[in-house]
Amino acid sequence: MTKMEKSHSTIAIFDSGVGGLSIYAELKKLLPREKIVYLADQKNCPYGEKAQDEVRLLTLKSLTFLTSFKPKLIVVACNTATVAGIDFYRKKFPQIPIVGVVPVVKTAAEMTKNGRIAILSTPSTSKSKYQKELIEKHGNTKMIWNIACPNLVSHIERGIVSGKKIEEELIQILKPVINNRCDTIVLGCTHYPFLKKT
Ligand code: DGL
Repeated sequence: MTKMEKSHSTIAIFDSGVGGLSIYAELKKLLPREKIVYLADQKNCPYGEKAQDEVRLLTLKSLTFLTSFKPKLIVVACNTATVAGIDFYRKKFPQIPIVGVVPVVKTAAEMTKNGRIAILSTPSTSKSKYQKELIEKHGNTKMIWNIACPNLVSHIERGIVSGKKIEEELIQILKPVINNRCDTIVLGCTHYPFLKKT
């Protein structure tokens, strides 16, 4: 059966681009027999530089398309889309379980030794109410640097994950992380693991 054929047992994964492929790979490892359909809205990527209302509507459009595969589960493999409206998507499709991803502030708060955490995320995620609440809930006894990273997603979509250009961007982004001796970094966007090595 090809990926485009409809199936009642499909798991659908959505991201604005290639970021959710890291989640696809993990799912495939854990559940190798599952049929998975992956949708990347690359036409509208990056979501992280758009207003939350727009992100919510674009995501709704993509999820509506994915429902034509009759998925038993939808994974919103995008922090930006999740924080913009996970409850809204769940209300729109009450018959399908929808799982999202959010920056792992809770895990970072448990892991840090010196209580200094940096959260790297898209501009939209970094200023979201959801992120603010995550920080209040799980990081209120820690020092947290909430760092918006414009441009990174666009570079990654173009396959730029190493080299001078991206190194220069990362040096700027990581300055407060180094200056403030953060011992834990949250990669709050599913695209960012592609930059881990760099
Ligand atoms: N992978 C998305 C995330 O986790 C990237 C969002 C974007 O398109 O800017 O936030």
